[in-house]
Amino acid sequence: MTARTDAFWMPFTANRDFKQAPRLLQRAQGMHYFTPEGREVLDGTAGLWCVNAGHSRPRIVDAIQRQVATLDYAPPFQMGHPLAFELAERMVELSPPGLNRVFFTNSGSEAVDSALKIALAYHRLKGDAQRTRLIGRERGYHGTNFGGTSVGGIGPNRKMFGNALSGVDHLRHTHDLTRNAFTVGQPEHGAELADDLERLVVLHDASTIAAVIVEPMAGSSGVLLPPKGYLQKLRDICTRHGILLIFDEVITGFGRLGSPFGAQHYGVTPDMITCAKGLTNGTVPMGAVYVNQTIHDTFMQASGPGIELFHGYTYSGHPVACAAALATLDTYAEEGLLTRGQAMERAMAEAAHALKGLPHVIDIRNTGLVAAIEFAPRPNAPAGRRAFETFLGCWDRGVLVRAAGENIAISPPLIINEAQIGQIFQTLAEVIPTVA
Ligand SMILES: Cc1ncc(COP(=O)(O)O)c(C=O)c1O
Repeated sequence: MTARTDAFWMPFTANRDFKQAPRLLQRAQGMHYFTPEGREVLDGTAGLWCVNAGHSRPRIVDAIQRQVATLDYAPPFQMGHPLAFELAERMVELSPPGLNRVFFTNSGSEAVDSALKIALAYHRLKGDAQRTRLIGRERGYHGTNFGGTSVGGIGPNRKMFGNALSGVDHLRHTHDLTRNAFTVGQPEHGAELADDLERLVVLHDASTIAAVIVEPMAGSSGVLLPPKGYLQKLRDICTRHGILLIFDEVITGFGRLGSPFGAQHYGVTPDMITCAKGLTNGTVPMGAVYVNQTIHDTFMQASGPGIELFHGYTYSGHPVACAAALATLDTYAEEGLLTRGQAMERAMAEAAHALKGLPHVIDIRNTGLVAAIEFAPRPNAPAGRRAFETFLGCWDRGVLVRAAGENIAISPPLIINEAQIGQIFQTLAEVIPTVA
């Protein structure tokens, strides 16, 4: 490494350790990263859950290059450009019926905060201004802006930042090793955990609650699948009490589970969906909120003259991001990638669950093209050490996996083949026994 490493304060990184021994990526193609030393690394994480079509896809690269030379930027407030309208129409073809309006952001965090603000403003426009409470879930991850931090449920992401938003509460998480450990696919037990929302309704009164936000499958806290029936129960309780249901699909959107969205995968339709990551195949930052027509039309009908929603970003619907997203959606469609997870699920499941019995492995979970291996915490050590050392061991052997708490998460580009799935889990099988 020739450049100095002092100035860049890296996000979600142990900076002091990293800068002693940097792990650098210089180039990427298809399923692989390449390091500055020329080492090939199989991408078992789709970058950070976002490069769903694999790296440096020519169609996407070409669209970005052409767009930046044609219309580099256009102001999104009181002005428009054709690609943003085209992209929103194309996105609506992929979403569940009714979720047919799209608000653009630049990240998952911004999509989450936008959705929460839309929920508050919607109730206010309906004359329900007292509905201000937001409900998240323990172990949920909704990005790092103040709204997402507040509804998020991962302790270390919250504790340093004061009270964040007031008027937030959390459902219990659904992770239950005593009943569901080593389940292949969706866990059988735990639908009744959705009744926790009824507890919060009794506590706060439904008339004060604006929205519930959950990931259909919690990704960042370790691939926690919803128990069978859980999401439908949550939907029913929200409907009964006039509470909006938001699915945060920043990870589950664009094919990760084997369907375009988790909503379709689990057959449950929320009122809003947040997405980002796979929308542009990770190439250009972009996020979005899908909003159902009832919510959207309430703004169009009940707000005063002029601007209906005083919210947006300088880069909402950025032309280069739109071009990247359109080319990404074309690539997904041409190669059937948004449903490929169904065909590949069995190979992932078999390879992942073959690791059962290795030292310290206390659970293995899988769905579509995602899997997780959970370790017992190492006694008297900082949290997540076994997962982190496993990640380092795989990196040394040319495979990128992700440490998430006590878990290793595997979420490769959706173009992965069976041999490459084999390589990821064979590498894990070699590394895990070396971790004390
Ligand atoms: C479910 C979920 N929501 C929100 C975010 C935040 O997205 P971003 O990092 O693009 O702000 C993430 C990122 O991993 C996520 O997994």
